[in-house]
Amino acid sequence: MFTINDNYLKLQGSYLFSNIAKKVAAFQERNPGAEIIRLGIGDVTQPLAPAIIEALHKAVDEMGNAATFHGYAPDKGYEFLRHAIVENDYKARGCEVYEDEIFVSDGAKCDCGNIQEIFGLNNKVAVCDPVYPVYVDSNVMAGRTGLYNPTNENYDGVIYMPCLSQNNFVPELPKEEPDLIYLCFPNNPTGAGISKENLQRFVDYARKIGAVILYDAAYEAYISDPDMPHSIYECEGARECAIELRSFSKNAGFTGVRLGYTVVPKDLKSSEGVKLNDLWARRHGTKYNGAPYIVQRAGEAVYSPEGKAQLKTQIDYYMKNAKTILQGLKDAGYTVYGGENAPYIWLKTPDSMNSWEFFDHLLSTVNIVGTPGSGFGAHGEGYFRLTAFGTYENTLKAIERITKM
Ligand code: MLT
Repeated sequence: MFTINDNYLKLQGSYLFSNIAKKVAAFQERNPGAEIIRLGIGDVTQPLAPAIIEALHKAVDEMGNAATFHGYAPDKGYEFLRHAIVENDYKARGCEVYEDEIFVSDGAKCDCGNIQEIFGLNNKVAVCDPVYPVYVDSNVMAGRTGLYNPTNENYDGVIYMPCLSQNNFVPELPKEEPDLIYLCFPNNPTGAGISKENLQRFVDYARKIGAVILYDAAYEAYISDPDMPHSIYECEGARECAIELRSFSKNAGFTGVRLGYTVVPKDLKSSEGVKLNDLWARRHGTKYNGAPYIVQRAGEAVYSPEGKAQLKTQIDYYMKNAKTILQGLKDAGYTVYGGENAPYIWLKTPDSMNSWEFFDHLLSTVNIVGTPGSGFGAHGEGYFRLTAFGTYENTLKAIERITKM
């Protein structure tokens, strides 16, 4: 009789956003007339930019012609896209990253979840608390953690780095020594940014102890502070200790199109002297057949002059929403964080309510969906996340409703 990977049994309930979607669907069924405003999952609402649509149409036509048809994509992604990535995301910012260090994929969520496969099961994992649940859950599934500890509301064997208002939601270096350090800046869920100095501190620390940083930069396009780093490779020595994960979902609206990439520098070696670039290439080649040609052409259009200009307008639109939420909540007496270098606003729930109570309250009284802070970890309790990815009209409406509430 077969058995299962019983690490899966350690997982708590269903995935956070699936859980919320179920609750909202049940509420809508009970209240068919309710006009629900969804500011929960960080899903975009603006249509794809014209330059991207044009590239998609052109690529679709190519696929219908034998002379320009494309089958399987190259393992690491098409050269035209990897070239555009290196030139625009790295060289333009003075970072040393090469085309054969880029691995194109169908999105950062998969890469965040899969990257742990190339590391030993005895590696110790450090995460921020609160944290994007994929980093923790994927390590639970792999067996790199102990059991869930209901008292601490976290997993045994994981190093949690508290991100609190006291430290501006930027963690201190952990006391216990980790091997894998997950960082995400600008941060999901708190919306906090990190200074170059603070990021350099992590890079220096990782090099000193021989750890690797898994740096999720999915929200870098939302940075408004000119001194904040957009990539970990802006820090000295990061090529020896960091993998960077990037997404086209938030900067170009690809949540339904699916495209991302991971950078694994060739200088990054394990304690055995193995190049992580070789391991990830082996994994990618074996388990993945590449993002579709038409989607990679759409990704290339993100870097065209027209694409860049159109996407800047889109980001400004979402950041206007962020400002509206931030100011509206402040005026209504809430304590709020984030929203300046990230599309997420992190607010303190009113005194008497925990995160899930506030979620229920907001949904049932004013029909607004957000994300309970405790869903991201024990230190998220007492907080609530709203996203700036809604439409401007709905964002205004939501703030009006919350203010009246
Ligand atoms: C979120 O809401 O945290 C994100 O949309 C989730 C994701 O990017 O997978």
